[in-house]
Parts: sequence; structure tokens; C-alpha cells
Amino acid sequence: MNHYPLTEDHIRFYEKNGYIQLDNVLDNSEVEVLRKALAQAVEDKNKYNLNLGPRTDESYAKVFLQMVNLWERYPVLEDYVHNVRVAEIARRLTRSKFVRLWHDQALIKYPKDSKATAWHQDTVYWPMNEAGGLSCWMALDDVTMERGCMWFVPGSHKLGPLPPIDLGNVSPDNLDAVLPLSFKGVKPVAVELKPGSCTFHNGLTFHYAGPNVTDIPRRAMATIFIPAGTTYKKHTHIVGDRGNLHVGEEFHGPLFPVLARA
Ligand code: SIN
Ligand code: NI
Repeated sequence: MNHYPLTEDHIRFYEKNGYIQLDNVLDNSEVEVLRKALAQAVEDKNKYNLNLGPRTDESYAKVFLQMVNLWERYPVLEDYVHNVRVAEIARRLTRSKFVRLWHDQALIKYPKDSKATAWHQDTVYWPMNEAGGLSCWMALDDVTMERGCMWFVPGSHKLGPLPPIDLGNVSPDNLDAVLPLSFKGVKPVAVELKPGSCTFHNGLTFHYAGPNVTDIPRRAMATIFIPAGTTYKKHTHIVGDRGNLHVGEEFHGPLFPVLARA
């Protein structure tokens, strides 16, 4: 496997800002494989109930179509979560001995009557005691501001976990409502991506995506990684309570496979 040329400067940027943009992580043929798999999942979504039950309300549907743990159903997506080029970046950004999979998700923001993804932190929805989990958000289209690219508040991971936001029922653009006073002067950064380029963001970093006001869907494939030493806490999550873990024990088992190891 040809590793991504990640440098110590990249890692320091990620540690300081809580996110990083990395270009050309996948090549065109790898992107095409993911696009085809997502198209199949979209076709199958009613048959297998792939869209998330609690989030099928109409207002949420305008934010995006969200399909999780596709790796368990589609072999090419299982290959993708095991893509060492991607997982090794997550491992090195977290300076961890290994990283496990928490879950994958396809996030498709459809054009027309599209809604923004509200500002939020991810970690506060995850059943984990420690912070440190991170997402790779891989663009499968040319993701511009108009098409709903991701935005990040640099350094906001240092705030630690703030109260969770009800993503279906907030004014999505209101960053002032979610950030404390100490962050009022910090400007969010929009990250436009070409297909095959991605961001990694710490689960504590505040992020947002605008509505898709173009004519074509915004397709992204996200992989969420948990660093070594992360322990389970009881917490309701959209993917369900999986793996029969006991509170306080380290994540383990086949539902949370190790994806990269030093
Ligand atoms: C989005 O794809 O619009 C948001 C993704 C995320 O919240 O991580
Ligand atoms: Ni998020």
C-alpha cells in the first residue's frame, strides 16, 4: 500500500486546529468504485431500510440522506473502510498505536430544497468516554461552497464537549448560539474539495455544511475512527447499541475492526 505522505507539520496542524484538508488521497478509479457502491445503496435503501429510522422526518431528510454501516452489506465498502492509506492517516493524526472503525456513513446532500447541516460537535453523540475519535469525510463530487462543503471552527476541539444540539430542530447557521464567548472572534473555515480529497476532523471540532444549491447531489463517504484506549459509555446513538460492550471497557470485537496498526 502506498501511504499518504503525511508529515509532522500536518499532524501539528490537525492538533492545533482540530481538522485538516488532505488532497488526492484517492485516485479517480477508487472514487468511481465508491460512487457506484453509493448508487447501489441508494437503490437498496428502502429494501434494507438503510436510511436512518429516527431521522427520516421530512425536515431532516432535506439535510442529507444518511446511510450508516454500509461496510457490512457492500464488500467494496468493507474494502474501503479497510483502506490502509486512509486509516493510517487517522492513526498517525491521533498518534495512536492503532485505530478501530466506529462506523461508516454515506452523506448525500440532494439539490433543491436542501437544508444546511447545523453546527455541531460529533463526540457528544458517541458512546465513548474519551475524546479523540475522528472522521474522514471523503468527497466523491466536486464539493464547493454552493454544493454544501464542510466548514470548521479552527481550534474549537479545545473547548471540550458542549451540550449536544438537536440537529433536526435548530437554526442551522447560528454559530453564535453554540459557541462560547471566548470563540466569538474565531472565523470558520470553508473547505472545498475535489473528488478523492478529504478532511479529517476531531469529533470535538465544531463543523457545519451549507445547503446544496447546485443541480447535482453532494456525495460524501465518511469513516469514523476510534483511537486505541477508547472505552465504551452507555449513550443512545443512531447506529444502535452494538457489540455487547460493558461500560468502561475498551472497544473491541468484530464490529469495531482494527483498520491500521503501527
Ligand atoms: C455533512 O456531511 O453535511 C456533515 C457531516 C458531519 O457532520 O460530519
Ligand atoms: Ni458531524
